Amino acid sequence: MTQNLVYLNGEYVPANEARISIFDGAISLGMTVTESTRTFGHKPYRLRDHINRLFQSLKAARFEAGVTADKLERLTLEVWEKNQPGYDTGTDAWIIHNITPGQWVPSSGQRPAESQPTVMIVTLPLDLSYWADFYQTGCHAVTPFTRIQPAQSLDARIKNRSRFTYTLAESEVKLFDPMAQSLLLDTDGFLSENKGGNFFLVSNNRIRTPSTINCLDGISRQTIFQLAEQLNLPVEECQLLPYDVTTADEAFFTSTPYCIMPATKFNGTVIGNGEVGPVTKNLLAAWSELVGIDIIKQAQAP
Ligand SMILES: Cc1ncc(COP(=O)(O)O)c(C=O)c1O
Repeated sequence: MTQNLVYLNGEYVPANEARISIFDGAISLGMTVTESTRTFGHKPYRLRDHINRLFQSLKAARFEAGVTADKLERLTLEVWEKNQPGYDTGTDAWIIHNITPGQWVPSSGQRPAESQPTVMIVTLPLDLSYWADFYQTGCHAVTPFTRIQPAQSLDARIKNRSRFTYTLAESEVKLFDPMAQSLLLDTDGFLSENKGGNFFLVSNNRIRTPSTINCLDGISRQTIFQLAEQLNLPVEECQLLPYDVTTADEAFFTSTPYCIMPATKFNGTVIGNGEVGPVTKNLLAAWSELVGIDIIKQAQAP
């Protein structure tokens, strides 16, 4: 691969030479707003939607990127243009944005006046092999004891890098089944989301998903709404309980890299008939058609 360049505060730097300060708010406060976009056939997918969500996260987090959304979009396309020649045609990319408030030493709680935001744009090859088998077998969704932080503490719509809660939840379910995927509940016991994905149920050809009261407003989630409309499938955002998963016909997660990850088992109980269901398959096929890439084949390519 040709040299991987990252954008860091106005400069293009080889990825292995990019450095940030140990006094950066990312480290001293765990305060990083983030986005992950992917390409399909080397074309960034819904990049502007990701950038718009990033700016909403920043507004809610009360710090700025120091560049406009238009400029950030241009810079992102520039980074990708520089790195794209190193990607073979079958390999797509993650495009990652990390923005921090810059230097912010926690001692006084004051952000130094001279502090400038830290802006990083990184591309990485998208390795889909971890999810490849789940398109056929479905995954095992498990509810951990760890609950998602309530929106009163940290609104899940702020896409941020403070992944302690999600990581604890994920490692907890893997104690029961090494391939389990966490499905976090909120503090009232309602379904929320996974460490990196939204969750959907299908019952009698009706799709249901938690509302964004307790989960990220995923861009892939929005794509499901779009495809469901195309396929004439009603979608409802509502409060859901573990009972609803146990009794559903089908279930799946959605996220930028894998798009749809079917779930065929929940806390040890088979969902529906234990196979990836027709609605999930139709949504996957419609998504592949939308982006001009066979999503399953790409993930399963050797
Ligand atoms: C906590 C969380 N929920 C949901 C998602 C799915 O969002 P998207 O579809 O925009 O990738 C992500 C993506 O990283 C996430 O981190």
